[in-house]
Amino acid sequence: MAHESDHPEISVIIPAYKEADNLSHLIPQVAQQLHCRDGGGEIIVVYDESGDGTVELCRDLGASYPVRIVRRKGKRGLSRAVLRGTQEACGKILVVMDADLSHPPARIPDLVAALDDETVDMAIGSRYVEGGGTEDTWGVLRALNSRIATLMARPLVDIADPMAGFFAIRRTTLEAAERLNPVGYKIGLELMVKCHCQNIKEVPIYFRNRKFGESKLTFGEQLKYVWHVLRLMDYKYERWTCFLKFCLVGGTGVAVDLLSLWMLLKLLPFVLARAVAIWLAMSWNFIWNRKFTFNYASAGSIPRQYVMFCGSCAVGAVLNWGISVALSSTIMVSYPMISAIAGIIAGTGFNYAFNRKWTFSVKKD
Ligand code: GDD
Ligand code: MN
Repeated sequence: MAHESDHPEISVIIPAYKEADNLSHLIPQVAQQLHCRDGGGEIIVVYDESGDGTVELCRDLGASYPVRIVRRKGKRGLSRAVLRGTQEACGKILVVMDADLSHPPARIPDLVAALDDETVDMAIGSRYVEGGGTEDTWGVLRALNSRIATLMARPLVDIADPMAGFFAIRRTTLEAAERLNPVGYKIGLELMVKCHCQNIKEVPIYFRNRKFGESKLTFGEQLKYVWHVLRLMDYKYERWTCFLKFCLVGGTGVAVDLLSLWMLLKLLPFVLARAVAIWLAMSWNFIWNRKFTFNYASAGSIPRQYVMFCGSCAVGAVLNWGISVALSSTIMVSYPMISAIAGIIAGTGFNYAFNRKWTFSVKKD
């Protein structure tokens, strides 16, 4: 294997599945760009077994170029392959690009140079900035698809081309990432969000259609993308989505509360019926908050969490009960339901704060 140096400055990671025809053209072109830095670079092809001669090809090319192959076994997948490549890479700067000649190797030096500016967290090859573009032969469907996917990513990152699969990032930035979950196609977006990239530099590129072979982007991958975006929203706006879920569960709890109150009032005086209804609703809320809102803490012991949940809710429940009873016995004598609703609202704020801080405080990674 011909290495430029023992400590290459740049590692170009190329995920490849059935791309032998493309790689034979791409690798020499990429190798040529690695001279842009004194430290040179290495090329890592991350290959999922497809028996198309990629292994032999990389071995042959390895005689003349600094390329090596990482062979993956098990579940194939683009994001997983890229992450595996980052683990194998030795360079300080990691560049990721497709194998199918869509991404211009000639832009690698620009991506790398963009990171010379310390304030830039990530550099991407962008199709949608001045000077960038795609081949006209993009079908209506693919163009529309790409547009919708781009729009969906808007709340996550404020850039023109969040779908970019051609990018450069410092190893240190990547290593600081939390909870990377490499499902699906958009590893770039995952990194932009989870590495907390504030400043993303868009380098214009002209995106070509692949020359050989076919795209691996299936309908299933596109569905996964929707899921991926939702998950990233959950990550980025974690406090808001968590509170929203808590309120959703609480909403169903209100129904349980009022329904049981309505039934219990046929048997018990209001003071007692209200207490029992609150307890029933509280147990209902516990089950769903544990399963859904705070599911990251679902490994904890149920009895312990139930006691803690009830304890946390006790303040809210007493508040709920107190306000309901006070109102129904004074200014709202003929409106027991409205008294109850006022109690519920007052209790909710307390319950959320106490449970998030205390009952379900264990975070899983
Ligand atoms: N190792 C490995 N395993 N590589 C894979 C796998 C896999 O399961 N699936 C896809 N790849 C590789 C392909 O061989 C190719 O090099 C690259 O990932 C992109 O796959 P394509 O099938 O060519 O995807 P695309 O052209 O639809 O999507 C590209 O364009 C998007 C922008 O429109 C990708 O670059 C996306 O990342 C990019 O966002
Ligand atoms: Mn492609």
